[in-house]
Amino acid sequence: MKDETSELIHGEAVEKDLALLRLKPNLQGYDKLRKTFKWSDAEELIDWYPDGKVNSAYNVIDRHALGMNKDKIALIHDDGQGNVQKISFEEMYRETNKFANVLAKLGIRKQERVFVFLQRSPELYVSFLAAIKAGAIASPMFPAFGPDAIRDRLLDSGAVAIVTDTELVKRVYPVRNQLPDLKHIVVVGDANSELGEISYEAEMRAASENFETLHMNPEEFQFMLYTSGTTGKPKGVVHAHKGIVQQTLTSRWVLDLHDEDVYWCTADLGWITGVVYGCLGPWSCGVTQVGLGGRFDPDRWYRLIEDHRVNVWYTAPTAVRMLMAKGDDLPAKYDLTSLRVLYSVGEPLNPEGVKWALDVFDNKPFHDTWWQTETGSILITNFPEMPIKPGSMGKPLPGIEAEIVDEEGNVLPQGHEGNLVIRPGWPSMMRQIWNNQSKYNEYLRNGWYYTGDTAQIDKEGYFWYVGRADDVIKTSGERVGPFEVESALIEHEAVVEAGVIGKPDQLRGNIIKAFIVLAPGYTESDELKKDIQKFVKGHLAGHAYPREIDVVKSLPKTRSGKIMRRLLRARELGLPTGDTSTLEE
Ligand code: WT7
Repeated sequence: MKDETSELIHGEAVEKDLALLRLKPNLQGYDKLRKTFKWSDAEELIDWYPDGKVNSAYNVIDRHALGMNKDKIALIHDDGQGNVQKISFEEMYRETNKFANVLAKLGIRKQERVFVFLQRSPELYVSFLAAIKAGAIASPMFPAFGPDAIRDRLLDSGAVAIVTDTELVKRVYPVRNQLPDLKHIVVVGDANSELGEISYEAEMRAASENFETLHMNPEEFQFMLYTSGTTGKPKGVVHAHKGIVQQTLTSRWVLDLHDEDVYWCTADLGWITGVVYGCLGPWSCGVTQVGLGGRFDPDRWYRLIEDHRVNVWYTAPTAVRMLMAKGDDLPAKYDLTSLRVLYSVGEPLNPEGVKWALDVFDNKPFHDTWWQTETGSILITNFPEMPIKPGSMGKPLPGIEAEIVDEEGNVLPQGHEGNLVIRPGWPSMMRQIWNNQSKYNEYLRNGWYYTGDTAQIDKEGYFWYVGRADDVIKTSGERVGPFEVESALIEHEAVVEAGVIGKPDQLRGNIIKAFIVLAPGYTESDELKKDIQKFVKGHLAGHAYPREIDVVKSLPKTRSGKIMRRLLRARELGLPTGDTSTLEE
């Protein structure tokens, strides 16, 4: 399959010769489409019930299992230790039907919250999609979360059920008695019936393979995902069934999925990228997806591409940088010629990453894509048919109006830096912040949806990311709220106060850095810092702990007592400290 001719011409920008692309891009004629496209056109990509209702999971699994794709492989799951399972759409259909019946038997009602807390495995996809079929609001949870993170999410959402496994369930028990709404714990593996755990395997054996996927109002909810903001606990971002319209459209137009593709998204289902582009969108297009268990390992990643002949690959800048750091000899050992298009998301993609890919992946560059948990699908992107300007996020999807505005909502002149905003109303936009209308309202100002990012637009209409307008930390592409880390820190007996910032890092984009004030009687030492790090990992999450800790005498605060993270950051990075008039000295 190796191309004899180069698909791309090097230059300032990465130009593309469409005649030489292996497959014709699904989206062609961007400029015209931007003018003519209507969202109602995209609704035709989806099957609707005759009563006008819809179910996203019906589109993701059922319609393929009941049609021509019945025997097609939906999932190639590689557990990372050489065990590969191939599951057809029909098998996925039967498994999700069975688990939907299990949920129905437990008495789960429409729109109740069902959490899925599992390592990457076929059961993860099955339970997530089955919950949606049964009309519940499915909520996947990242397997690195500890008890505090679990409690915050289950408590806020009033979750009635959690599907987990023998290992992960141990992190639920420390907070079990703080979760009055949680009725059912389903365990994959060895369930302990004395503790009231329900055995996944036993229930599945007894369940019927027939289930009538619930007909949902397009505005009813399919899933929710907790994400971090500047202040407060993580918030539940809620998505409607109608989102599947745009999740399907972008999988075709942006990821350029074609029927014969083998596609691999490296994100965990605990993050929005995993949910939308590692499950919903690509399967709605009827494409074969590869899933990989275990930890990040460059050898295994390249081997996976070679073994399963992956054509389309969606990953993240930190992973790209980690692969780059391993050198070019490693990829040269593998046959990676199956790759056709590559994508990245989550944080700025360095121009070097785009160019490195040209060298090691037979002239295939990474296409940067921009979106958020709240946007529900890709909104700004580099399309396969378009030249890439390395370092740019690309252009808005047809149907999306994106601008750079000031605090009053005035559109700024071309080239100016400002708030990146989107005109509300796209199909996959979040519908609520769970239980928190005022938080939701904060996003919507002056007739725009404020993304919290700053950016600028160049003369040709390409968008360039500048930074976050708030204190949210992006570390290895994952979104962490400083408040959550500060809260976990002060639970440690040696810490009385904590301020947390993101500190730029070559590999991870940012690392989490904490400034702490010690309680009387404690002295600074490496052991103490290590102990504090371990404590945060154990309580909050394996990835959301401070890699650097500075002990300080006091933290800069406003007169109302708020920690001035902006000032901590400016001091740390040697930047101008700006307005300090509210500083309490
Ligand atoms: C934030 C959203 C939805 C994908 C995973 C992240 C940052 C996202 C890019 C990009 C620079 C990016 C933004 C955004 N971000 N994509 N291509 N270039 N920054 O979802 O966890 O909700 O985070 O990630 O700051 O607001 P998320």
